[in-house]
Amino acid sequence: MKFEQSKLLDGLPKQFFANLVAKVNKKIEDGVDVINLGQGNPDKPTPDYIVKSTQKWVADPRTHKYSLFRGLPAFKQAAADFYQEKYGVSVDPEKEVAILGGSKIGLVELPWALMNPGDTYLLPDPGYPDYFSGAALGKVKFATVPLLAENNFLPDLKAIPADVAKQAKFFYLNYPNNPTGAVATPEFYKELVAWAKKYQVGIISDFAYGALGFDGQAPVSFMQTPGAKEVGVEFYTFSKTFNMAGWRIAFAVGNPDIIGALNLIQDHLFVSLFPALQYAAIDALKAPQRDQEIAKIVARYEERRNAFVKAADKIGWHAFVPRGTFYAWMPVPKGYTSESFANLLLDRAGVAVAPGNGFGEHGEGYVRIGLLIEPDRLVEAVDRIAKLHLFDKED
Ligand SMILES: Cc1ncc(COP(=O)(O)O)c(C=O)c1O
Repeated sequence: MKFEQSKLLDGLPKQFFANLVAKVNKKIEDGVDVINLGQGNPDKPTPDYIVKSTQKWVADPRTHKYSLFRGLPAFKQAAADFYQEKYGVSVDPEKEVAILGGSKIGLVELPWALMNPGDTYLLPDPGYPDYFSGAALGKVKFATVPLLAENNFLPDLKAIPADVAKQAKFFYLNYPNNPTGAVATPEFYKELVAWAKKYQVGIISDFAYGALGFDGQAPVSFMQTPGAKEVGVEFYTFSKTFNMAGWRIAFAVGNPDIIGALNLIQDHLFVSLFPALQYAAIDALKAPQRDQEIAKIVARYEERRNAFVKAADKIGWHAFVPRGTFYAWMPVPKGYTSESFANLLLDRAGVAVAPGNGFGEHGEGYVRIGLLIEPDRLVEAVDRIAKLHLFDKED
């Protein structure tokens, strides 16, 4: 018997980076010492205090049963307390917090939960590729909003045509930004709330890198903006803040209608998360050493950013200096596309980078560097690239 996948699945976007991963793996198999700057997976372990607390909770048989469908009230309370403490934002833990098995789930299921076939939403370009999967599953349309260097990779709201804004139901934004490393400002968010009200567009703030701000500047949360809860929600994940990408824990806070719809779709898809993980997540958020552990994680990425940007600068390869995240968004030299440059670096320098066009049309002309290896290897990558003499004339 032969089974065909559904038309819905046929409509899912192809995994752009699968090709890159296959090429990198082939090089490694061939014995090349590849320096892999192409990925976005935190390289260091989860802080020990979280691992220990998880071990304790896993051993407790009370955590072995089904969770409540919408998660532990104590976890929702801890998420609400965290937003209050960190950002001065109050949310009702029952109506304004949704627990998620990673923020990717929430971001992808949202169009399905809150839009109807044929509706439109706005996505950033360049942007996190998984946003597109939500459009296919929800059978909705999307329009892209360019993020340009001249605007510090913030969308120019005035440049979004009024008819496009009027049609859109939601707008996804992500600051600190993957892939550019740009950060948002309170002024921008104020303007965004006013724009959202004017055009009746829901704002979806993907705060995946919310803890990762450099130069002593903690990233601003969209929810801190007056009126934010009226117009939108924010997704917060444990993946980057606590090096917990494999654990699949996140939550969303904000507008109760949006949160209610997310909770409802999840009632039908999941039975929340393993209770031991939810208890461990509470401990992660509440422990006295929390901020100290986060500061260590941030300091490590900042040190890497500094090492990479300085080394690249020296060879005439000038970065848009990232203010947060663990990426550097680098221009490609004249005569190359994102892909031809990425291929050249892999073939001739053994350095893997993510071609910018994988993040959207406006990613063309850039590659994304993941700062997920130690500074000496980052500098070695630049040294290898220097030997190709690609930037000499641009200095
Ligand atoms: C911008 C952005 N949003 C969301 C996610 C997904 O995070 P999570 O691990 O919570 O699913 C990522 C992961 O890389 C990301 O880069």
